Amino acid sequence: IFYKFREYYMKTSRQIRRLEASSRSPLYTHISATFSGLTTIRAFDKQDKIMEEFFTCQDYQASAWIVFVRASRWFCYRLDMMAAIFGVVAVLATTIAVRYTDVDPGLAGISLSYVMILPGLFQWAIRQSTEVSNLMVAVERVREYSQLEAEEDVGNNEKIPKGWPSRASITASKASFQYHHTLPAVLKQVNFEIKEGEKIGIVGRTGAGKSSLLNMLFRMGKNNGAIKIDGHDIQNLKLQTLRNAISVIPQDPVLFTGTLRKNLDPFRSYRDEEIWQALEEVQMKKKVSEMEGKLETPIIESGSNLSVGERQLLCLARALLKRNKILVIDEATANVDYKTDNQIQSTIRKTFVSCTVLTVAHRLNTIMDCDRIMVLDAGNIVEFDLPYKLLQIPNGHFNQLVQQNSEEEVSRLTEIAKTSAIERNIDLDQIDKEMASQIPVLNMPTIMYDDADDIGMINTTFQDNE
Ligand SMILES: Nc1ncnc2c1ncn2[C@@H]1O[C@H](COP(=O)(O)OP(=O)(O)OP(=O)(O)O)[C@@H](O)[C@H]1O
Ligand SMILES: [Mg+2]
Repeated sequence: IFYKFREYYMKTSRQIRRLEASSRSPLYTHISATFSGLTTIRAFDKQDKIMEEFFTCQDYQASAWIVFVRASRWFCYRLDMMAAIFGVVAVLATTIAVRYTDVDPGLAGISLSYVMILPGLFQWAIRQSTEVSNLMVAVERVREYSQLEAEEDVGNNEKIPKGWPSRASITASKASFQYHHTLPAVLKQVNFEIKEGEKIGIVGRTGAGKSSLLNMLFRMGKNNGAIKIDGHDIQNLKLQTLRNAISVIPQDPVLFTGTLRKNLDPFRSYRDEEIWQALEEVQMKKKVSEMEGKLETPIIESGSNLSVGERQLLCLARALLKRNKILVIDEATANVDYKTDNQIQSTIRKTFVSCTVLTVAHRLNTIMDCDRIMVLDAGNIVEFDLPYKLLQIPNGHFNQLVQQNSEEEVSRLTEIAKTSAIERNIDLDQIDKEMASQIPVLNMPTIMYDDADDIGMINTTFQDNE
């Protein structure tokens, strides 16, 4: 009878438990989002709206929870009733047996006391088994996540030599990039060629497609056209091979739950000294050695117990350990102070000297001494050349970005570009001449002949040729 009750109850309770579990996620997400955005909420005086949203999530979760608790009470009540009926029947049966048969009253008493314990045990066992079944809903949800559809991986690594990429040259021809096939292309048929070991700075306005260009290299969406690294189309590579070959310091760095060591060296391939050396190079050694657990310090979800700048520094340390031939940095130093920024930049220059480095930057001084600067605008490459050369283009995109700074900063940036061009043995006079020949002649008067024959004289008007 207990088992029958269990079966009847389980059908409902499992569904309610599912409902309760799925209503809990929005509530927790809301709480953590509120905590991380507390300052913004207060700044815009949106406390009431957020509270309202919170109560809605909470009501939904609480209603599912109450139904679940009620259902389990319903079940327990029935079990209790059954146990009570069983107890009454057992007492009656024993009394009758003692009265009308020659059963020893002592033995009857002992058996009765045992019988009275039995329904309690049964009840407990049944309750526990329903609890296990209900909690299995959690396992079900974990399984659901573990079986999420993986990214399409069509590559087979055919013809990829060992140690690829050895030179790390990158070419793109008519490369377009979409985050999803239903969305418009964010990079539109871009062509570029990056030679082995070049340091490229990428600039452009917000939303121009700088991060998307880096994502394109990792095949984070749909690529059209051909992108080749060392002459091999990345479309033919296994995603793991491709992504393993490029080190990245993303705009929004993510660390994983686990220890600091696990985040720096997930496969335990490096010695402690090497890890400390990398931390020293990114100026994090002091900070980590002051932490209680040192390399074993726990990192909580998404690395939220570290600042964004520190997370980026740890990503850089990870890249230093890995020593890939290609490094891409997305505003890596936007979240650290000037002094640390300069130290990091010099570390990158020293350590990645033979590597191809693509740096997306908002602080122009970090990329002024790059080999070339790529300027993006609305998904197109509008300029791609030596920084000093781009500075010579009047009203050029890059020039305009530089001119937005103070006069002092502009001359400092120009000086960096000039020095780095001289260091590269580039003939500056030649560039000046080349650029001067491209400058349109402005405000030159144009002579226009106006009905000259009719009036028998030449009437001249001047017009600004803008
Ligand atoms: N995950 C995404 N899914 C869909 N569209 C996206 C995604 N990320 C970016 N976009 C779109 O792609 C375009 C380019 O965005 P991207 O992040 O590359 O700009 P960005 O140049 O890096 O800007 P910022 O300087 O602000 O970092 C934007 O219009 C944006 O809306
Ligand atoms: Mg970006």
